[in-house]
Amino acid sequence: MATRKLLLLPGDGIGPEAMAEVSKLIAVMNAEFDAGFETESGLVGGAAYDAHGQAISDADMERALAADAVLFGAVGGPKWDGVPYEVRPEAGLLRLRKELELFANLRPAICYPALAASSSLKKELVEGLDILIVRELTGGVYFGEPKEIVDLGNGQKRAVDTQVYDTFEIERIAGVAFELARTRRNKVCSMEKHNVMKSGVLWKEVVAATHQAKYADVELTHMLADAGGMQLVRQPKQFDVIVTDNLFGDMLSDVAAMLTGSLGMLPSASLGAPDPATGKRRALYEPVHGSAPDIAGQGIANPIAMIASFAMCLRYSFNMIEEADRLEGAIAAVLEDGLRTRDILSEGGREVSTSAMGSAIVEKFRALA
Ligand code: NAI
Ligand code: MG
Repeated sequence: MATRKLLLLPGDGIGPEAMAEVSKLIAVMNAEFDAGFETESGLVGGAAYDAHGQAISDADMERALAADAVLFGAVGGPKWDGVPYEVRPEAGLLRLRKELELFANLRPAICYPALAASSSLKKELVEGLDILIVRELTGGVYFGEPKEIVDLGNGQKRAVDTQVYDTFEIERIAGVAFELARTRRNKVCSMEKHNVMKSGVLWKEVVAATHQAKYADVELTHMLADAGGMQLVRQPKQFDVIVTDNLFGDMLSDVAAMLTGSLGMLPSASLGAPDPATGKRRALYEPVHGSAPDIAGQGIANPIAMIASFAMCLRYSFNMIEEADRLEGAIAAVLEDGLRTRDILSEGGREVSTSAMGSAIVEKFRALA
């Protein structure tokens, strides 16, 4: 039996509530399906700060580096608004991203049939939608230097952010996108602004060269990022995998996500550099939502974003494709049955608690085996 090492970092607010539902699933997969998950838990965010004054401890960082995958809940909340900047809850996530070198952020936009009618787009535009945005996460304008506000001395200030991309950064994110496309509908659309940005010129050039050299079997198109935003809401089903930089990806992935539903439904994955020893990619899986302090502790949070993040973990870190499909099928099936947490409650639905939703998904997962 394979040993699969998972580090669970539930964090704050609804993070632990959502993570508890994934733990139920892991227990069942181990007991009944011989999955061989070995889990450890650590502290991150405000929970870690309260315990030892850091947003994540060195010991938990070590565990994250040693794990096959990290499952992350959410961090933050008003309780920690006043803590020093370097140890604020978000610093825990930023440290994980940096030290695991998580350069590829995967944000799927999948439309569950049972929720198609509640999209802000027409039902026929989103029904059956299944696209994947691959966003570069560790480069670009969020990190480029210089990054400063300069006092010009004449009553004016000047703010500077710098978009920087090197060839290797574009090559490796393009590689991830092409490889993922091969497991899907074999199509990649690369988005940049080569008409007005030098980084866009290089982006387009390197994506095309990477395609030529190693992935010529995948269908590649290029689109200007602003036009891409338009096409995403006009005809989203034309896309399979979209690959783009950090800034455009931040916006385009939020747009794509909202085509399909509530924040409580949206999973994500961040993939990193291969581990030098094993060749396996480092990875962290987390819901898109935050710690939702407004509903924390009430048992009403939607655990689906966290559970769907675990499905991505099965797919991308452990190549457990059949189990990932089955888990996503179980989520679709409970929605089909009319089960709803409060955030997705609509006419005809039946409101259930976080825990009841999690248990129903576990039962479906069993039943579909
Ligand atoms: P949020 O995502 O926590 O909540 C936004 C709204 O969506 C709230 O009304 C919340 O109740 C609802 N919501 C979110 N997830 C839900 C779920 N699973 N089920 C049902 N309803 C859900 O974002 P917000 O309010 O801007 O931030 C709250 C805290 O979370 C802040 O401290 C923020 O810094 C932190 N945060 C952390 C993130 C992370 O850990 N990666 C990401 C975003 C925010
Ligand atoms: Mg964003």
